[in-house]
Amino acid sequence: MRRVALALLLLGCSSDPAPAGPEFVDTAMPRAVDQNPDPGVVEVSLEAKVGPHGFTTGVTTKNAWTYSGTIPGPLIDAKVGDRLIVHLKNSLPETTTIHWHGVRLPAAMDGTMLSQMPIEPGQTFTYEFTLKDAGLFWYHPHMRSDVQVNAGLYGVIRVRGPNEPVVDREEVVVLDDLSLKADGSIEDYLDDESKMMGRGGDLLLVNGAAARVFTWQPGSRVRLRIVNAANGRFFNLALSGHTFRVIGGDAGFLAKPYDTDHVLVAPGERYDVIVVPQGSAPLALVNDPYDRGHDSGAMPRGTVATIALAGAPTSGPLPTSLPAFTPLADRPTDHTLVLDEKLQPSGDVVFTINGKAFPDVPVIKVPLGETRAFEVKNDAEMDHPFHLHGFFFDIVQKDGKPLDPVLRKDTVIVPKKSSLKFVARFDASGTWVYHCHILEHAESGMMGTIQVE
Ligand code: C2O
Ligand code: CU
Ligand code: CU
Repeated sequence: MRRVALALLLLGCSSDPAPAGPEFVDTAMPRAVDQNPDPGVVEVSLEAKVGPHGFTTGVTTKNAWTYSGTIPGPLIDAKVGDRLIVHLKNSLPETTTIHWHGVRLPAAMDGTMLSQMPIEPGQTFTYEFTLKDAGLFWYHPHMRSDVQVNAGLYGVIRVRGPNEPVVDREEVVVLDDLSLKADGSIEDYLDDESKMMGRGGDLLLVNGAAARVFTWQPGSRVRLRIVNAANGRFFNLALSGHTFRVIGGDAGFLAKPYDTDHVLVAPGERYDVIVVPQGSAPLALVNDPYDRGHDSGAMPRGTVATIALAGAPTSGPLPTSLPAFTPLADRPTDHTLVLDEKLQPSGDVVFTINGKAFPDVPVIKVPLGETRAFEVKNDAEMDHPFHLHGFFFDIVQKDGKPLDPVLRKDTVIVPKKSSLKFVARFDASGTWVYHCHILEHAESGMMGTIQVE
């Protein structure tokens, strides 16, 4: 848009009311309203509350938990360098907080029980920090997160940088799954299956609705900003007969985008892909079987959304290289974290790190500004998506072999019976957590802390 304005200035064309429309068709999603006139400040209000939501046609769920009445919560749009101010009112019947997943911020704004007091019902808390990185991030509670996120509390922050690729359309795609009772209410259960695999259900949701339909133009470049907000379900996405060009993920762009027919997205992870829909018949965005352990590979293919094709065909080039980060160098391992599951005499499973469950996992201390290498070993019979707060990490090895290219992420799948090594620079002080992003695992012990001082 700035380029258009500049061109008009150069032409001295002040009488021409050129449409200053967006350069691409943007996703249709409820948005947070910026109440601050300062162009460098985005100031919004959110209210966490219980209310009605239609997850599936003809059914109203009365006990959904929402931010400001929508699922996902309002999309927060900002640009790199903006100051973000969020006034959160808690109108839930219990305490809550917001954690800004993937955002590098001061520890006091991180939303965990180690960084702030729980926000009591009826109270308001203001989060305020500067957005240092471009990318797609998300927000969710960090108190009883297994229950609160499952009931609908999650939303997206999209931070745009100076180097966004040129596309025709952008869709924010928030994945989730859910189980509803016959009366439409959300199941509030924690049976053995959901303790082990995370609460889930047969309803596959995109942006809070089952059977979502997107309408795209044939041949157009559609950028999908995908985030998995499910408690436990991994989405193994495919679009019949099409390839995705993966251009980035949790932490910005990949230097060399690559093509793939499946994108596997674990809870907490983000993927940034471009797809060019072809043909005229509707396409199915599907979730293909993936074995994350404990016989989960036997789950059938499910339809996540339908793509209708309409409008004039368009086309344009896809990005082949993008401005990316400079990876941190590999170094000898400083810390080893072994993820495992232990069957208790009671029959319950406890998820552990180095044999201990949170809060008994020993604190790791790192002097401010230092770089550390971690080896994360998964000895369990299932995959665990490992997530670190406050910092990105560069994955340098997988199963002892160098990873090329190095991936920069904040959440990564550590497959069953395998290991990953990452390097991170701890340049922000405070107490930060790392945990499995299967929320039932995090809540039942697979979480530890890093103290940077
Ligand atoms: Cu999205 Cu502590 O996590
Ligand atoms: Cu997080
Ligand atoms: Cu786990």
